[in-house]
Order: sequence, then C-alpha cells, then structure tokens
Amino acid sequence: MRHFVVVGILVIVMAVLTYVGLDSAGLMPVEASAQSVSIDWLWNWQIVAISFLFALIVVPMAYSMVIFRRRKGDITDAEHVEGNTTLEITWTVIPLFIVLTFAYMGAYSLGETRRVDPNAMVIKVKAQQFTWTFEYPEYGGFFSNELHLPVDRQVVLKMESSDVIHSFWVPEFRVKQDVVPGRVTEYRITPTLIGSYKVRCAEICGTSHSYMENAIIVEDESVFTAWASEQETIMLASQTPESLGKILTVKNGCVGCHSIDGTQLTAPTWFGLYGSDVPLADGTTVVADDAYLAESILNSTAKLVEGFSPTTMPAYTLTDVEVANLIAYIKTLK
Ligand code: CUA
Repeated sequence: MRHFVVVGILVIVMAVLTYVGLDSAGLMPVEASAQSVSIDWLWNWQIVAISFLFALIVVPMAYSMVIFRRRKGDITDAEHVEGNTTLEITWTVIPLFIVLTFAYMGAYSLGETRRVDPNAMVIKVKAQQFTWTFEYPEYGGFFSNELHLPVDRQVVLKMESSDVIHSFWVPEFRVKQDVVPGRVTEYRITPTLIGSYKVRCAEICGTSHSYMENAIIVEDESVFTAWASEQETIMLASQTPESLGKILTVKNGCVGCHSIDGTQLTAPTWFGLYGSDVPLADGTTVVADDAYLAESILNSTAKLVEGFSPTTMPAYTLTDVEVANLIAYIKTLK
C-alpha cells in the first residue's frame, strides 16, 4: 500500500512538472482569430492528458526499476500473478470515458470553428504555383496579392487551385484548409487581432513551394474599407496599358516567380529586363525587345534563359492586347 501512495504522489508531481514544462515551451504562436479559442482550449486539454499519461507510464516504470530491482545474490523467481478482473475493468472503463469525453470536445471544437456568420464577407482565393491571388467581389472584384482583412468580421474564403493541391495555412489563425483543383473549398475565419501575418502553403506543391507565402494584414474596419475602396477606384480608373498590364500580373500570379525588384526567384526578374541583353541556354544572347517578350510570354521555352528550368511556367491564354499591356508594364520596371 505504501508503494501505491508514493507512486501516486510521484505521478501527480511528474504530471504537473511535465504540463508546466510543455506549457511554457511556447509551442503556439499568438492567438489571432475567434476560431483559435476553441482549438487552443482543446489543445490545452490534450497537453494535460499527454502530461498525465507520460507520468503514469514513466514514474511506475522508473520506480519499479529502482525499488524492485534484483539484489545481489537473489536468484528467486518473482511472485506469480494470475489476472485481476477489477483492475482490468478499471483500466478499460476509465480510458473509454476519457476517449469519449475527448471525442465530444473535438466535435464541439470543430462546430465552433465552422460556425457560420450569415454576414461574412466573401473573398475569392486562387492558389497556383507559386503564389496566392485574392479577389474582392464586394468591391468591384479587384485583385490583390496581399490579403487585407477587417478585424472582428467573419470572412469566408472561397478557394480554388489552377494547378495542383495547395493548402491555406495561417498559424496564428490555427485553421488550415486544402485547396484542391476542380472544386471550391471554404475557409471561415474571424480575425481578432490587428497585425501582419503570412499565409503559408502547407502542401508540397513544387520547386518553389517554400516561397508560396503572401502577406496578410488584419486592420481596423475603417482602414480596411479605405484600402479596398482605393483599390476599387484604381482598378476602375486605370485604363492605361501599363496599369492594365499590372492588374494582369496580379490576377495571373506572375509575380510569384518573376520579381519586379530584381530579386531572383524561379523565373527571370522583370526589373530592368526591357532592352537588356539576355543570355540564353544555347549560348547565344538576345535583346529583350517587344518581339522577344511577346514570344516568351506565350511560349516560355522558345528562347530559354540561361540557368532556368524549362518546365515551370504554366501556359496562359492571352489576347494580343493583353500581351501588349504586359509588355507596357514590364517597360516601366527599371
Ligand atoms: Cu502551394 Cu506548396
């Protein structure tokens, strides 16, 4: 009996120490959405269960190894124990109860995470190798590569992929949702903390999967409305070839691979490209004029640039005017 009391106390002490240790390890980033509250609540109870189970296994094992070890010169067999019905019923019923409780807590947490607000703002999301594009139908349908969200209002993201499976994941929001070609998946979130975050693609989707990060800005309702209205105005007012070309690059996600500031991504940068000498994979050089850019936009491997893979650029269907607008935009990047 004395052993049971000692082990019982040690298990409790060990469980508390393990819980405090795990809890202070800071495993979770900041809690930035309404949905994260019930997820973190469930997570916390899982940590409690993990700490207790760890102590329940490790403490009796270590205790037995020390207290009941074979002494020098002791060659007798251990005591033979034949079944214990009470113990077996106990260690079946208690875990069953705990598992059922966690099943209920999991279902409750899932229900809270998916709670629908009928006034949620719809934003369309397009995922592609290797960037995210956001469209705001409530504001004339402008496109953005940054996801701006008003604080404390539920948004529902209607997500589509134009190539392979991607996964929309913002650690601070906790919820994660796959984006699958051929179907629309929904992601509901109510941001509760103003700040800057990042969406990370959480499904390996190709060579630049790790670059598939876009900024998320959660801001005050009034700041958001001002931004969205401005974007809408710019979109409506901008009818120059350069600005139409720029909108096209955002919509098609070109800037996920072609930087506009000289940064080297998976495709040649557009910065200072127009009029420059471009070294090709076959050893020759070509001047980046209108004809070369038009050819490369429609057929990226016709003149492959030295040092780049021929397979990465998707085929786009663009009209002659759209190609001309794109080139007009590229000309402005210097
Ligand atoms: Cu998209 Cu990984």
